[in-house]
Amino acid sequence: MALSIEDMAVFCKKKGFVYPSAEIYGGIAGFFDYGPLGVELKKNLEDQLWKRFVRSRCDVVGIDGSIITNPKVWQASGHVDCFEDIMLECTKCHHRFRGDHMIEDKLNINAEGISKEDVDKLIKENSIKCPDCKSELGKANQFNLMFDTNVGPVGENTAYLRPETAQLIFTNFRLVQENARMKLPFGIAQTGKAFRNEISPRDFLFRVREFEQFEIEFFIHPKKTDDCPMINDVEAMEINILLENDKDHKKAKIKDLLSKKILSQWHAYWLGQFYKFFLDMGINPANLRIRQHVKDELAHYARACFDIEYNFPFGWKEIHGNADRQSFDLEQHAKHSKKDLSFFDEESKEKVTPSVIEPSQGIGRAMLAFMFDAYEDDKKRGNIVLKLSPKLAPVKLGIFPLVGNKEEVTKLAMKIYNGLKDDFACQYDKSGSVGRRYARADEAGIPYCITIDFDTLEDDSVTIRDRDTTKQERIKIAELREKIINLL
Ligand code: GAP
Repeated sequence: MALSIEDMAVFCKKKGFVYPSAEIYGGIAGFFDYGPLGVELKKNLEDQLWKRFVRSRCDVVGIDGSIITNPKVWQASGHVDCFEDIMLECTKCHHRFRGDHMIEDKLNINAEGISKEDVDKLIKENSIKCPDCKSELGKANQFNLMFDTNVGPVGENTAYLRPETAQLIFTNFRLVQENARMKLPFGIAQTGKAFRNEISPRDFLFRVREFEQFEIEFFIHPKKTDDCPMINDVEAMEINILLENDKDHKKAKIKDLLSKKILSQWHAYWLGQFYKFFLDMGINPANLRIRQHVKDELAHYARACFDIEYNFPFGWKEIHGNADRQSFDLEQHAKHSKKDLSFFDEESKEKVTPSVIEPSQGIGRAMLAFMFDAYEDDKKRGNIVLKLSPKLAPVKLGIFPLVGNKEEVTKLAMKIYNGLKDDFACQYDKSGSVGRRYARADEAGIPYCITIDFDTLEDDSVTIRDRDTTKQERIKIAELREKIINLL
């Protein structure tokens, strides 16, 4: 039987990846705490994104903006007026539900971008009742997703917890461009917390109220959105794509989408880069696709948007959003702040307000996709094997003295552990049979285990065991470090 989202939540808690927040008090819906393995996995994922898309590129730099900022930012960005979902409330038990999700769950249709009038109509026509107490549902309302708070001792100033990391990139755009001497096209990246008061958080880490995002705002001369010098990097890539008017996804090359003018070159470039990231980090290509947004569901700032979706047990769902935001945000902030945010482009000798492509990556959702993709119930071994890419695996090496109670062996094992632990995340484990230790390591996703035995004392060799194949190889201690570097 396929692994359900509930099974995954149980596994994550049992193994120390993710717990319901403050569970001793009953938890709180939409909030989770990361345990010892989860925090490492999340960090590795963030590090891989930062390394690939910021550090190793000379056209992207990073910032770290504040979570609470001047509330005028959210007026200018449109979040105060438009960042809303449709809410339904039961007239009797007063439980609240997301309107589009209610329609999707009850009628099995796609309700992305549905209006509240249409929700009311469908509720009435199909006699949909409260799922909890079966009473009448009230009329649909708009519900703003931003968390508000008060700043200052007398609470005189209402402010918001940021619902996306993007906006502080726009407000700091001119400073960053000047400090880092960036020339168009260039990007600014940020990773950090975002908060949304979701009406009904659900599906474990998938829809939560506090989560991390990694976002890039990539600034382009508005007349050059179809002039990407690096388009060769992605053009030949074959992807699964679900187009706006299609029912199912099909295979296509990125260059086919470009020739049909389905998206601009720079948009295709960034979409391709992130699709490739997921494949390089080990996602099965059959479980990944790109979905074009239908016109009605486009966010207020977007000219075009594509999601990267993962095939979860509860259906194909968005794990990454990639939007063409045009110059909407810079123009809005220029208007509201009365500051000139246009930019002199030396190449074209024009003063321009750049156009923006925004890859937006949720960390928790990506992590959930990696966990599902890696999870294998190996009946022969009798345990779960978490086949995470070594780049993401929370612990890279298990170090096991074969006999945990023989001092010469444990001493040498500890020496090997001490020699490796500063460069690789290692776990020293001497308790239980070596079979039990391998099983524990498999379930934590540890890609390689090193066993130190009596022979090691004689021949200065250890055994390395590969998590995925269970193959074991004998290797000299002197060659261990180089071997590990090659493997990882
Ligand atoms: N700045 C654009 C933006 O925030 P979005 O599609 O609303 O776009 C981007 O969010 C990504 O953030 C999503 O693809 C998802 O990975 C993550 N995300 C959004 N809402 C989330 C939630 N409630 N829980 C977990 N992740 C979420």
